[in-house]
Amino acid sequence: MSGSALFETFTRAPLAFDHGEGTWLVTDKGERYLDFGGGVAVNSLGHSHPHLVSALTEQAAKLWHVSNLYEIPGQSRLGERLADATFADKVFFTNSGAEALECAIKTARRYHFVKGHPERFRIITFEGAFHGRTLATIAAGGQYKYLEGFGPKVEGFDQVGFDDIDAAEKAITSETAAILIEPVQGEGGIRPVPTQSLKRLRQLCEQHDLLLVFDEVQCGIGRTGKLFAHEWAGVTPDIMAVAKGIGGGFPVGACLATDEAAVGMTAGVHGTTFGGNPLAMAVGNAVLDVVLEDGFLEDVQRKALLLKQGLAGVADEFPDVIEDIRGTGLMLGLKCAAPNTKVNMALRDQHLLAVPAGDNVLRLLPPLTVTDAEIHEALDRIRAGARGLSDAIAAAAAK
Ligand SMILES: Cc1ncc(COP(=O)(O)O)c(C=O)c1O
Repeated sequence: MSGSALFETFTRAPLAFDHGEGTWLVTDKGERYLDFGGGVAVNSLGHSHPHLVSALTEQAAKLWHVSNLYEIPGQSRLGERLADATFADKVFFTNSGAEALECAIKTARRYHFVKGHPERFRIITFEGAFHGRTLATIAAGGQYKYLEGFGPKVEGFDQVGFDDIDAAEKAITSETAAILIEPVQGEGGIRPVPTQSLKRLRQLCEQHDLLLVFDEVQCGIGRTGKLFAHEWAGVTPDIMAVAKGIGGGFPVGACLATDEAAVGMTAGVHGTTFGGNPLAMAVGNAVLDVVLEDGFLEDVQRKALLLKQGLAGVADEFPDVIEDIRGTGLMLGLKCAAPNTKVNMALRDQHLLAVPAGDNVLRLLPPLTVTDAEIHEALDRIRAGARGLSDAIAAAAAK
């Protein structure tokens, strides 16, 4: 056996964390890191949130799994709460974002199938998108680096340029079923889609009887300061994929849809063994308890402004390291002037965790529970990291 027993699919940082406390992660050596990566937008309420810990442990002492052959009260409750809080009428629970997207894609295709149009199965997607790593979702994402070597690309995805709504309109044919888009691209480099563009997509869907599908796996559950990012635009989808933050670290995903859009998802056409199990639902309900508390999202918006303003100051100070600040809420990106991997390392040297993304961006996705003091601490560390890198760049140029 060469090296570790694990598939070599991840390039891991040489850090092993032993436990977490709120926004902090503590290594097996006792070193503390400020976690502004949030497990890639998963740890919505930080680490070891007492309400989540008690929800999970109480459920663990009662019942873990029964399968979807039986009623799961926590699942019905979380489904109703998500429906009450959104455009949706119906919810299907999964274990991951990619599975939520698979369900969304299948729901869109079945809609046209039951309406007598099985030929309408194609979905328009956008450059820079990321929808997961299953065969269908790598086809939807359309990125060659994820498709290469995995055989023929799953048929039925037509990609146009990022925010190119004219091209999306031109790509509509008699076989088109839906338009799939992240309201804020995450992996693509924290790229929010302008409100006007989302509105135009909604209109195109109305005109051509297409389903509008939002992927809010990364930008949903309070990340942008609203429960879902599309609320900022006042545009609602027909179908939406959710995951990451809804489980706060426990694997949970969900596909939400209107009654109309879900018309084809009848008994037996789709299923899952683990999706919506009692443990996952206990945690999902506990996350909503906190995120839907009065004032919680307003506080996320306030803290986000504090962070963004502070970051803009750092970018002004070190333009050779950070070019610009992107994003909304606590989904912010440093558009780097230096390579984002180097900026990431410089911040990690300051014990501040962030996550690289496409377009030479470094993502900051702290828990929504981050405190003002932690934001100031993070800004100090980011400034120190940027200063170190800026000095190194200047020294290299002087040689
Ligand atoms: C927008 C978006 N969609 C889908 C996915 C896939 O989610 P998962 O990795 O849970 O399958 C991700 C993961 O990063 C994502 O950011």
